[in-house]
Amino acid sequence: MNRKQFFKTTAVAIAGIAVGGSFVESCKKSSNGPQGPTVNFTIDLNSSTYSPLSVTGGYVYVQGVIIARISSLLDGFIAVAQTCTHNGCTVTFAAGSQSFVCPCHGGTYDLNGNVIAGPPPYPIKRYTVTRNGNILTVAG
Ligand code: FES
Repeated sequence: MNRKQFFKTTAVAIAGIAVGGSFVESCKKSSNGPQGPTVNFTIDLNSSTYSPLSVTGGYVYVQGVIIARISSLLDGFIAVAQTCTHNGCTVTFAAGSQSFVCPCHGGTYDLNGNVIAGPPPYPIKRYTVTRNGNILTVAG
């Protein structure tokens, strides 16, 4: 191998390591911890669109997030990502067990989005919900 071939081979090897390293890093970021979109939105509880939230156990979907009314208290709302981390089905809220349930294979998440049953490999993301009058802000 001459000097030119050596530098060419070395440059290709370094580029391969850099690309491989960033690929591994991106895989780590996408596969660790709670899964869900980054959001920051408000909803008006007076809107008929969100009327299910007027009763305990009601829920709605907004921008990839399921918002559920977990109690009759003013701040009795909770929001987590709506997409199951197993195969991507949409979770529902089960008021009786205070959990989020995936209808596809029985994956179950607690109110913090942690997996408590079934095959989901990762938690779903929990969002901050704040209420100001009839306006809910969901962010995270
Ligand atoms: S897609 Fe949710 S448990 Fe399989």
